[in-house]
Amino acid sequence: MKNVVDFDRFTKNYNVLLGEGTRFFSADDAYFAKYKIDIVRKQILCPISSMLEYGCGIGRNIPFLQCAFPTAKIVGSDVSSESLTVASEQCPGVMFFQEKDEEEPREAVDLIFVANVFHHIPPIMRAKVMKKLFHRLKPGGHIFLFEHNPYNPVTRRLVKVCPYDKDAVLLAPSELKNHLKQAGFSNLQQAFCLFFPPKFSRLVLLESYLSKLPLGGQYWVKAKKSD
Ligand SMILES: C[S@@+](CC[C@H](N)C(=O)[O-])C[C@H]1O[C@@H](n2cnc3c(N)ncnc32)[C@H](O)[C@@H]1O
Repeated sequence: MKNVVDFDRFTKNYNVLLGEGTRFFSADDAYFAKYKIDIVRKQILCPISSMLEYGCGIGRNIPFLQCAFPTAKIVGSDVSSESLTVASEQCPGVMFFQEKDEEEPREAVDLIFVANVFHHIPPIMRAKVMKKLFHRLKPGGHIFLFEHNPYNPVTRRLVKVCPYDKDAVLLAPSELKNHLKQAGFSNLQQAFCLFFPPKFSRLVLLESYLSKLPLGGQYWVKAKKSD
């Protein structure tokens, strides 16, 4: 198994490294965070009063989550303490906590958002982490995950050269969905996304019609914990 990457080492240049890899797609590194949260907002129509971003890193998604769900209490967590320090500075007023191996009781939430975290979790640990997330949701709550699309050769190339992806083991949508089902989730929905750069804004509008084509840069899966 590859060594686990310590994201404490990448807090200062995370955005720079992200920008280097994805500049051909969009020069605006906030684009990817906003793009994802726009999808979540369109897909989650029930009221959300509490939310966890699991594996929030330096908190790039949090301001967009705050805009999209202005009345929700948002909490972020990560294994990297240095990332959480940066996230706390960037997002004052948001509560963050560090994920540890041993499980601590946490208040259950309505929505868990997880962006590009599972490919950093060693495959042998993934089922356990998914079960933990299941227990952190209220009955009727949703989980929403984004992952790199392993069928897209450009995505695979970007992951191969990115210094903080040295431990990445990409997951096919079927693997992610199997973990969700095994953990107890139901009502699974999936779509491929990130087909076109924002400069082709008209084509971006067509993306929802392409959601079954395994060519997007990433994919998302949404699932529910039964009431
Ligand atoms: C590629 S970064 C994504 C950060 C953030 N989700 C974003 O979209 O900007 C992956 C993050 O997952 C975190 N991570 C890795 N394994 C984790 C685990 N088992 N539990 C929680 N976070 C984890 C890393 O520390 C890192 O901050």
